[in-house]
Amino acid sequence: MAKSFNYEFYKESADFILSKVDFKPQIALILGSCLGSLSEEIENKIIIKYEDIPNFLVSTVDSHAGELILGELAGKKVVCMSGRFHFYEGYDFEQLAQPIRVFKLLGVETVVLTNAAGAVNVSYRTGDIMIIKDHIKLMGASPVRGPNVAEFGPRFFDMSDAYTEELREIAKNVAAEQELNIREGVYFYWSGPQFETPAEIRAIRILGGDAVGMSTVTEAITAAHCEMKVLGLSLMTNMAAGVLDQPLTTDEVDETAQKSADSFKKLLRDIIARI
Ligand code: HPA
Repeated sequence: MAKSFNYEFYKESADFILSKVDFKPQIALILGSCLGSLSEEIENKIIIKYEDIPNFLVSTVDSHAGELILGELAGKKVVCMSGRFHFYEGYDFEQLAQPIRVFKLLGVETVVLTNAAGAVNVSYRTGDIMIIKDHIKLMGASPVRGPNVAEFGPRFFDMSDAYTEELREIAKNVAAEQELNIREGVYFYWSGPQFETPAEIRAIRILGGDAVGMSTVTEAITAAHCEMKVLGLSLMTNMAAGVLDQPLTTDEVDETAQKSADSFKKLLRDIIARI
């Protein structure tokens, strides 16, 4: 970590992005693995490669485009990450604060986070969508550790309403209109990249987790620090390890994500229209 993560560090990235567009995005979208095709529907888009943005992180996953897409979706000005950053890729937790802080400086007020997750709650089914009501993060450090950047928020901050109630209500209403049986539950953060063991899943269930996954939480914490509104949606791509008598494969994760992509996109689009 050669550079210090101060306000100027993030501002340099944001100023570069703002110099490429003639509007300020209101909503940021970070779309989870296999759920990213919604970004193709963004209109009047301007695409900026991560590698061209000063101080921005660079995607390590080959299949990820590593691009920021700015434009219009469902009548809203959006910025969308095509390719997100995870701790398991080798970044430090502090580095993972970066996209959200840059979005804050672009003028974004609302962050929509989606992910693929394993269903820990045995009443859930593969293909179900869960609105994140709350999370549990017992692993690793906070993305906002280190010297506090006071321009973003205070040293200590509240997490009671990190997943904004008003947005959860919008998601529930849209799901009801679409006759989609939506869940609401607790997302348990897992640093990965290995999936959990069956014993770990039993422990997560006892602790109160309904779904488990390797993303989203660092972004939600960073957003709470700078008082942005957050909506988190998880797609249950598989039952978590040990729930079924079968091994867990990434093929299953990808397959479910592909199968559910259309209904997920429809839900997301209508939610964005109402934000
Ligand atoms: N565990 C952790 N992350 C995941 C899973 C899982 O079962 N499925 C998709 N992402």
